Amino acid sequence: MTRKILVTSALPYANGSIHLGHLVEYIQTDVWVRFQKMRGNACWYVCADDTHGTPVMLRAEKEGISPEALVERVRGEHMRDFAGFHVGFDNYYSTHSEETRHFANEIYRRLKDKGLIEARTIEQYFDPVKSIFLPDRFIKGECPQCHAKDQYGDNCEACGAAYAPTDLIEPYSAVSGAKPELRHSEHYFFRLSDPRCEEFLRAYTGKDSGVLQTEAGNKMQEWLGEPGEHKLTDWDISRDAPYFGFEIPDAPGKYFYVWLDAPIGYMGSFKNLCDRQGMDFDEYWKKDSAAELYHFIGKDILYFHALFWPAELAHADYRTPTKIFAHGFLTVDGAKMSKSRGTFITAESYLAQKLDPEWLRYYYAAKLSASMEDIDLNLDDFIARVNSDLVGKFVNIASRSAGFISKRFGGRLAPCDVELPAWQAVAKHAPSIAEHFEAREYGKALREIMALADAANQYVDSVKPWELAKQEGRELELHAACSNALNLFRQIAILLKPVLPALASKVEAFFNCAPFAWNDVGQPLAAGHEINPYQHLMTRADKKQIDALVAANRESLAPAEAPAEVAAEAIASGKAAATSSTTSSAKTTMTESAATPAAAAPSVSPTIAIDDFMKLDLRIARIADAGPVEGAEKLIRLSLDLGPLGTRQVFAGIKSAYDPASLIGRMTVMVANLAPRKMRFGLSEGMVLAASDGEGGAPGIYLLAPDAGAQPGMRVK
Ligand code: MSP
Ligand code: ZN
Repeated sequence: MTRKILVTSALPYANGSIHLGHLVEYIQTDVWVRFQKMRGNACWYVCADDTHGTPVMLRAEKEGISPEALVERVRGEHMRDFAGFHVGFDNYYSTHSEETRHFANEIYRRLKDKGLIEARTIEQYFDPVKSIFLPDRFIKGECPQCHAKDQYGDNCEACGAAYAPTDLIEPYSAVSGAKPELRHSEHYFFRLSDPRCEEFLRAYTGKDSGVLQTEAGNKMQEWLGEPGEHKLTDWDISRDAPYFGFEIPDAPGKYFYVWLDAPIGYMGSFKNLCDRQGMDFDEYWKKDSAAELYHFIGKDILYFHALFWPAELAHADYRTPTKIFAHGFLTVDGAKMSKSRGTFITAESYLAQKLDPEWLRYYYAAKLSASMEDIDLNLDDFIARVNSDLVGKFVNIASRSAGFISKRFGGRLAPCDVELPAWQAVAKHAPSIAEHFEAREYGKALREIMALADAANQYVDSVKPWELAKQEGRELELHAACSNALNLFRQIAILLKPVLPALASKVEAFFNCAPFAWNDVGQPLAAGHEINPYQHLMTRADKKQIDALVAANRESLAPAEAPAEVAAEAIASGKAAATSSTTSSAKTTMTESAATPAAAAPSVSPTIAIDDFMKLDLRIARIADAGPVEGAEKLIRLSLDLGPLGTRQVFAGIKSAYDPASLIGRMTVMVANLAPRKMRFGLSEGMVLAASDGEGGAPGIYLLAPDAGAQPGMRVK
């Protein structure tokens, strides 16, 4: 019987880049989804960017663009990063969508009809310096439960408790540092304290329901308390303007709090998929739906998914999640990811350093289990593991036997000997490997698969094709040995496919096969089946690559040490040549050579060959947006449209000469292949060309502009 399954991962904030911590979740989910699809189940995987809230609003304001433009740009970056790691969403949408708005309004309306929404005037923290009501995340202080310091106003990262910002001990504004003041405002609450909610949640999350892992169930018991304790408190679901979000239908100036519409984004994304594919949304979401619904989440957001979300759904007459799968947090070399150590590694930088995304998929899978324990990415172990398991054990089986089949047997396989112990082992272990995948015990699944690879290698070692090949009259044995080895290799590739989809597809091409499905397990290829010449499948990981990755992510947070900013300021003041930072001199040289093409002869830089010049990829760019950069006097944040090449963000030291607003819409020239630089305010992905006298003092900076007719993305040479 094919199951109908809807799977989600948490919706990443549209406020930051995808990093290796996030990828634990998306890879864990993707492996599970791919496994279900290979089994022939109807399994859909949806996600979206979580776009609403004050952080996005403030960031867009800083960048001088609309929040809509910001979330669209970030969504593009997130989709690119996920695709780079082969995370195969069926839909990656946005919570800032009409579908999500529709369900948010509807759920709100239904809860209201049931008497579960209440308006109340509350006192909320107000930043007297910034003149805004402070969102929970912008108030920090001591956790009222566990007394951890510097916790956010909505929930504690140390103990997981959720609370109101007014519960924080010694609060302060994270925007201005000011001591916040309490002001009155009318807010809307979801009445979680209503006995109907408590009764529902006790049953829903109780041990017998199987919805939660044991550890998560225990947390719930703690949050729910003993019957009669009435520990659940009402949940504030509205925020005051200005706010980037959905305005509450019957409450002008009031917006749904981001966490109200975030999980509703799961529905919005799925609805959007249904409309595109002609599927029936209700079949998956109506109250008595027989479809399965699973949410993969990090342990930090359990409170939102196990309490608020099911309680909302249940009382708004929707189905509730079948199970919630919480995972632990990623540490790198045993510690929290750190920007100063360079272990806060972005997905983008990993791919840019040309590390194989499937190395990470394999490593994470090898470490993942169904528990909520944290998982550690040990960088040395990562290299050792990938090289020994994937290259040394798995790929090795094929690389030792494939050549003979092409060279000596016209690419055709001999019959596979299914009596071989190594083959029998595949048949014997396949069911438990499938159970491990189903149960999210990927580490156990991979251990069994690697044991099968060991058995296959032992077989190859025992028959020694390379020796048979040298002896006359042993053709048949050689053919059989290599065919058996390749059949074993193919079986292992099938079992690894949920984890290594790109490698599996190379193996499918090598074997001239249709995409592997789970019922290919145990099926040898027919005698005479023709395979393609063997092509290299995977390279070894090298310590140098990891060192480069860590170096690329090492960020100096002290303003005095931010070379890019120094460079920008130096350029603006014309004192560039005096700075010693290598990055700044690179930038400077560009600006100056553009600035002084035929200026004073003595200062012309050493001659270069045309090849050197051709290394520069100069492109026409349209300034789609320009805005100030808070904390950097001399910089303007530019959003550059390169036409078919997409959009880039660049920080340019030209503020002394230009008003950002006057730049919007202008065409200019940029260096498009400059290595991206992480700055305190974000990533700078190139530079624009400007002329200046290079003598210092005067703010004479002249941005280059092409003649009319040049289009964004055109090459300049
Ligand atoms: N926007 C919310 C989720 C809304 S779901 C309706 C959010 N976003 S997030 O970007 O901070 O995190 C997205 C997911 O990645 C969460 O499940 C979170 O637990 C997970 N992770 C973020 N950092 C992580 C690690 N360092 N390690 C493992 N998972 C991590 O929360
Ligand atoms: Zn705490």
